[in-house]
Amino acid sequence: MAINFKDYVANVKDFPDPGIIFRDISPLMEDGKAYAAATDAIVDYAQAKGVEMVCGPEARGFIVGCPVAYKLGVGFAPARKKGKLPRETVSVTYDLEYGKASLFMHKDAVKPGQRVLVVDDLMATGGTLAATIKLVEELGGIVVGTAFLIELTDLHGRDKIKGYDMFTLMQY
Ligand code: PRP
Ligand code: ADE
Repeated sequence: MAINFKDYVANVKDFPDPGIIFRDISPLMEDGKAYAAATDAIVDYAQAKGVEMVCGPEARGFIVGCPVAYKLGVGFAPARKKGKLPRETVSVTYDLEYGKASLFMHKDAVKPGQRVLVVDDLMATGGTLAATIKLVEELGGIVVGTAFLIELTDLHGRDKIKGYDMFTLMQY
């Protein structure tokens, strides 16, 4: 039977700030079948695009992106928060639904011309996605697709990311 993925998302009111409904994907990750089915849906999307590298932002982007990379048989390039990467980096600062953040990638994480899929658990304002795309492109990568478990449509993140193909498994 087809999985209703929304059954595996916990909706938490007023976290981390009043007025935010936090869409918590941990029930999905904790269920082997649902996690595998969500991973497979993104893998199916990626396979048609000739993806050579998966990139995801810390931390939930790793949870979604690493099994996708494994299944595709390609590498995973992490975009990390400040102070985590030991070698030479490129960086970008951006706005979040709640607060500001910076992301960093190692300068050699993506090779020029490499076809990259950018993956995360959730798109809210699209700030994290736009930042990750900027880093990948600064390294010479070609963003051939983007994929999320969840899209918060009211925040119009897609408007920030015009010109890039996008797959989202669930919309709220
Ligand atoms: C969350 C989420 C996305 C981002 C989406 O990450 O995992 O990366 O916010 O928001 P945006 O579309 O408005 O940029 P967060 O920065 O909370 O970090 P975490 O994954 O480490 O929890
Ligand atoms: N990241 C940004 N906004 C979020 C939300 N509403 N739920 C879960 N993660 C988020």
